[in-house]
Amino acid sequence: MCGIVGYIGDKQAYPILINGLKRLEYRGYDSAGVAIINGETKLFKKKGKVSVLDDYTKDKDLLGTIGMGHTRWATHGEPNDSNAHPHSSQNGKFVLIHNGIIENYEPIKNKLINSGYVFESQTDTEVLANLIEYIYLKGNISAEMAVRMALSRIVGAYALVISCIDEPDQLIAARNSSPLVIGIGENEYFIASDATPIVEHTKSVIYLNNEDVAIIKKGQLVLKTIHSEEELMPKIETLDLNIEYLEKDGYDHFMLKEIYEQPRSIKDTFRGRIGHDLTDVRLGGLLPVMDRLLAAKRFIIVGCGTSWHAGLVGEYLLETLTRIPVEVEYGSEFRYRNPIIYPDDVVIAISQSGETADTLAAIQIAKQAGALVLGICNVVGASIPRETHAGVYTHAGPEIGVASTKAFTAQVTVLTMMAIMIGKRKGLIDNVKTQELVNELLSVPEKIKETLKSDDEFFRIANVFKDTSNAIYLGRGVLFPVALEGALKLKEISYIHAEGYPAAEMKHGPIALIDKNMPVFVLATQDKTYEKVVSNIQEVKARNGIVIAVVTKGDTHIRKIADYVLEIPEANELVTPLLAVIPLQLLSYHIAVLRGCNVDQPRNLAKSVTVE
Ligand code: G6P
Repeated sequence: MCGIVGYIGDKQAYPILINGLKRLEYRGYDSAGVAIINGETKLFKKKGKVSVLDDYTKDKDLLGTIGMGHTRWATHGEPNDSNAHPHSSQNGKFVLIHNGIIENYEPIKNKLINSGYVFESQTDTEVLANLIEYIYLKGNISAEMAVRMALSRIVGAYALVISCIDEPDQLIAARNSSPLVIGIGENEYFIASDATPIVEHTKSVIYLNNEDVAIIKKGQLVLKTIHSEEELMPKIETLDLNIEYLEKDGYDHFMLKEIYEQPRSIKDTFRGRIGHDLTDVRLGGLLPVMDRLLAAKRFIIVGCGTSWHAGLVGEYLLETLTRIPVEVEYGSEFRYRNPIIYPDDVVIAISQSGETADTLAAIQIAKQAGALVLGICNVVGASIPRETHAGVYTHAGPEIGVASTKAFTAQVTVLTMMAIMIGKRKGLIDNVKTQELVNELLSVPEKIKETLKSDDEFFRIANVFKDTSNAIYLGRGVLFPVALEGALKLKEISYIHAEGYPAAEMKHGPIALIDKNMPVFVLATQDKTYEKVVSNIQEVKARNGIVIAVVTKGDTHIRKIADYVLEIPEANELVTPLLAVIPLQLLSYHIAVLRGCNVDQPRNLAKSVTVE
């Protein structure tokens, strides 16, 4: 959830670190800090955004070619200067930055207090810094050995960059359950929690595995594990990441850019995966496990947040086209529920980041139970694609806005392709039906472009509702998850209380909330439940609620009864989630901007949730 960046080479470290922190700020943004190692260790930490730290360091001595930086999302201890990273050990021997959580920090802290250590912060990270120092001083051993010994006593997740003042020409990086990637330049190395700060410097990278420790000097990298002295051969990979995705490119916010990117990102998702005559969908990553996939007795989809909503859309698509039963689970609930999993189950983990801790834990449980575990992930090389048996990348490009938009539509696109592919291979849909569905999918990017043209209208409606305190979102069938997603988008970025419901459930409770001040967003496109949804709209109107309906273009009937209509092009029901979500994303975006909220970095949230 926090962002890590490190540098060791010939260049000045500070500009690389601060620029890297700005790129990483989407991961966490309550405080930031840097350490420059240049004979001595210069430490600068500030509560607030990276820009606050950058202002603070303006008149400071920042010279040095080795350093580390961190942007924080608080877990232990409130956001303030002393809880910010880097953390220094009591005697100043070690300085380190850390992502993740040290679960057994309390007993270790107590032992260190008994040995005379005094703590300045409330963080688990300072405990680790002092543990490493304690072992180092007591054992009279190398910094590397002290780090490896300390880490073998730790329970929990970490990505770490560590410097020891007695060995000032090296950085030590280590990972367990929290991602860390090392970029290889000319006589220089970059260390980061994801590739975004690295890609502008080099495309050659090494992804650390769990329990790896890298001992890095200028122009030299030695890879070991925390348990063994033996040197490992690093696997060098090439980043497939385009720098333009990391710039706002003239848009006011990343979120707006990413909403507008969807015609392209969806095309990138299905590029190369659809046969010429449109009678076949080929998700290459799933071909090696096709037999087990076709023999599946049940799909269990796991995810969190928006990815869970994509899973609910997937449930509808997969059950409709493959006739295989589907369950959709929150990663966090699944992992602690002692779930019943059979070897002929197929578990599908959906995650934009590929690092969500609860989803990762669910994967481990499913693997232990013998199920086939697949991943649908956006970030290439992330933990989830590495931990699953097979999977599909969404190829939506990096998503920087904390509120997920293009990742959601890319996930739903993959699930649609998966459902068509399995349905076809099971003989449940013929060539003609496959062509019809594939054609529908291929027409989505143009239809989204058409929808985006109504953005002025969405902005006008956003102005009407910018001061509301509550909102209800209703949808049925495949659009029920879109109602949930619309409500989530609004609450995440504008802090307006919003709830999504299956439209028919409204009368079992939420209807009590409806009065003349309650906006009700209704997904009312022309599908098999259209008449039922119209009745739900009437029920809201009968209680003086305000209805904003997302309708199929040309729908004159709902126009007469709803207060506002948002039109989307006509489409097969199975692809409507990809279209219906667009007006809801834009409405939430405009409302948040009009309320003066920080759209890309909403309060308390983080992009990649690597803690439970
Ligand atoms: C966080 C993000 C959400 C995201 C969720 C799951 O809460 O703010 O946008 O949907 O994590 O993340 P994942 O990377 O697993 O899709």
